[in-house]
Amino acid sequence: MPAERTLVMIKPDGVRRGLVGEIISRFEKKGFRIVGLKMLRMSRELAEKFYSVHKGKQFFESLIEFITSGPVVAMVIEGDSAISVARLMIGATDGRQALPGTIRGDYSLSKTENVIHASDSPESASYEIGLLFREEELVSW
Ligand code: CMP
Repeated sequence: MPAERTLVMIKPDGVRRGLVGEIISRFEKKGFRIVGLKMLRMSRELAEKFYSVHKGKQFFESLIEFITSGPVVAMVIEGDSAISVARLMIGATDGRQALPGTIRGDYSLSKTENVIHASDSPESASYEIGLLFREEELVSW
């Protein structure tokens, strides 16, 4: 299987609560390779681009406010079936429904403050990686 890349982003609640190390560790221990990693504070403009598929939805404004409320940690991970496996590891969108053992299932009780984001398809992975990382910031090893 050729290695696949996906974008994982620890949201401001995860950073505030000191969960960065724990979450990165889960992806490392699973066997993924981290090929890009950065902390940033999203501007409104960047956040609106990042979540452009949700524009017009009733939760869009609160989502943008939340995601720009503090720093996030973005990473690109690489490995077999990275996109689908990362989605399994983060769990259902709503932390109240996410299964125990998943990241949201273990750390969130909310749909908005749900600790982490991961790309849901090859198209969104390449779009989101391209928004947050320049080519030279991704390291093949
Ligand atoms: P995420 O995986 O980052 O993708 C979009 C985010 O919108 C989602 O996680 C949730 O945090 C947030 N969100 C807030 N309300 C809703 C909702 N009703 N349905 C889906 N996503 C929501």
